[in-house]
Amino acid sequence: MADNKGVHDFHVNTKEAAQGFYVKGAAHLDWGMQRRLGHMFQPKSGNTVMLAFDHGYIMGPTTWLERIDLVIPPLMPYVDVLMGTPSIFRADIPPEERPGLCLRITYDSTVLNDDLSCGGGIACDIESAIRMDADCMAVQCFIGAPGESRSLELLARTANVGLKYGIPTLGVTAVGKDMVHDEKYFLLATRVLAENGANIVKSYYCDGFERVVSACPVPIVIAGGKKLPELDALEMAYRAINDGAHGVDMGRNIFQSDCPAGMAQAIGKVVHDGYTAAQAYEVYEEVRNR
Ligand code: R5P
Repeated sequence: MADNKGVHDFHVNTKEAAQGFYVKGAAHLDWGMQRRLGHMFQPKSGNTVMLAFDHGYIMGPTTWLERIDLVIPPLMPYVDVLMGTPSIFRADIPPEERPGLCLRITYDSTVLNDDLSCGGGIACDIESAIRMDADCMAVQCFIGAPGESRSLELLARTANVGLKYGIPTLGVTAVGKDMVHDEKYFLLATRVLAENGANIVKSYYCDGFERVVSACPVPIVIAGGKKLPELDALEMAYRAINDGAHGVDMGRNIFQSDCPAGMAQAIGKVVHDGYTAAQAYEVYEEVRNR
């Protein structure tokens, strides 16, 4: 056998290029977890644009998502992750490699019941998530509401099984209409979700958001909430990114826009390229006027 000594260079004296991992709080996670997080968060910015269209699971088809097969697929080139229910993906979304896939795996009570005491249940098991090649599993948590304990149990169980199979868990802060959307609440809620296993936390923007982000050991992405004028939605996204958010998980402010493709691209410029709201609004206008 030939002596290969001197032929191969294993660079034993060269420091490893990657000493950690670019997604916050994920440096010590398993290879598969990091790979899936890498499908969601872009290395160049460390951030993500998630497009949420899971509203129908509690609201029905009343939110401009009457025909998901027509509304969502055209936006796929402009976002990093799609977030929806497994049934809708199977029915309406082509199974392409990109963008990443975040499955909402829990059910909750509907808007007809509006019952925060339920806490939800599991609608999609781990086998289904694996079969669909999910990059992430989302669980809604009702911090401060009667369903808190039940929803945290679902989060912790999901996070544990996610660790076992290498699929990250997104904890979603559900804010009831009578609850206060302030720094004190989100400081507590985001930290509680992270400490109960969430690898990513979805929250809302608030005053003092930079402290909320700082105290949360995993990336925070912000929901958009009800439709705002486009410039206002871009301003909120800009402030959130500037304060340390690692992206958005936005729905209505994209798909209810009069130019959803323009809005998705403008949000991407804020999230990944450091655009101000005014600069990104020009992108939106340019796409809209094409
Ligand atoms: C929250 O749990 C909802 O199901 C949506 O995913 C979330 O509210 C994000 O959508 P939007 O930006 O429309 O608020």
